[in-house]
Amino acid sequence: MTVRVGVIGTGNIGTSHARDLASRVAGATVTALYDADAGKSAALAAELGAVSLPTYEDVIASDRVDAVLVASPDNVHAEQALACLSTGKPTLCEKPLAPVEADARAVVDAEVAVGRRLIMMGFMRRFDPGYVELKSQLGPEGIGDPLIVRNCHRNEIAPYGLDSELSLTNAAIHEIDINRWLVDDEYAWVQVLTGRSGPLTPEEQHDPLFVLLQTTAGTLVEIEMFVQSQLGYEVTCNVTAGLGVAEMGDGSYVTTARARHRGHGLPAQWLGRFQEAYRLQLQGWITHLVTGGPMPGASAWDGFVDSLVANRAIDSLRTGERVEITLPERPALYA
Ligand SMILES: NC(=O)c1ccc[n+]([C@@H]2O[C@H](COP(=O)([O-])OP(=O)(O)OC[C@H]3O[C@@H](n4cnc5c(N)ncnc54)[C@H](O)[C@@H]3O)[C@@H](O)[C@H]2O)c1
Repeated sequence: MTVRVGVIGTGNIGTSHARDLASRVAGATVTALYDADAGKSAALAAELGAVSLPTYEDVIASDRVDAVLVASPDNVHAEQALACLSTGKPTLCEKPLAPVEADARAVVDAEVAVGRRLIMMGFMRRFDPGYVELKSQLGPEGIGDPLIVRNCHRNEIAPYGLDSELSLTNAAIHEIDINRWLVDDEYAWVQVLTGRSGPLTPEEQHDPLFVLLQTTAGTLVEIEMFVQSQLGYEVTCNVTAGLGVAEMGDGSYVTTARARHRGHGLPAQWLGRFQEAYRLQLQGWITHLVTGGPMPGASAWDGFVDSLVANRAIDSLRTGERVEITLPERPALYA
């Protein structure tokens, strides 16, 4: 069986996903595309032998499309995910599920009403070999319970403009999600600290942000979120546990010495660091659709919880206070 995928949003990541599905993922093909910029989707459609359709609703409804990939801007994910749910087509939705927690909750409620888990979230770090190896080191067979997790997330330049609240809902939400997954726990509170900003930060914004969370079991999670670091794209994660430490580093495996310098380059942005994680995520999604096995990635519920935590982080950014995190009851669909 070949899963025919329709792609909504053919910008940076949508194009990468569509090319992966067309050529590097077994069991998938791309048949229809939509982008608000019709020229973009038409060019990619010509490259991939697909059709470019005039609206996103046309992609979802198309009888050439079995499953949908949503890679449009953050603020339309929830609306497009709801449209996918209304047709019962499985959907891979890029993060975040929504910048506003109520919009994310509406998607969870709609999926619960359908009674089937149709939405998988594009939190691809759960498929990254570095994070998978790091998680495998934790627990009683490894270095014990995680006590402190230290994360750095640095972009060369702010990819969607410098806005401190966007840094939380769009970028730090990766750490919010991956640390829940890594330590297998939920957060109890969050505090966002601001301090001296980098040279490119406008007066009314803060960059870097220092995000501190504690999980219900007491694990401390810290995140340095620096979207305008100018140094390149770098993501690190180190865990201090009861019996040892584990360090993921930044995913660079080879250092080169030349002309009195030893080191390695940094990618300009996320594709250079997480290309394989994106492909493994897509393959996991397609294999799940073909075999009917369990959904391998983050659920809509995870997407909602991540948005809720990011919204509490915004509350803390605005007030400077530590903010408690209270989750509603998890619906049985996500047990
Ligand atoms: N998982 C990851 O690591 C990762 C990495 C990059 C981007 N993303 C997410 O993917 C999404 C797209 O990011 P990007 O970097 O590709 O942005 P982008 O700006 O490169 O592309 C977005 C595209 O969406 C199109 N668009 C605008 N409004 C639309 C609409 N209503 N419907 C369909 N298309 C529309 C734009 O014309 C553009 O081509 C964002 O939500 C972002 O958070 C995730």
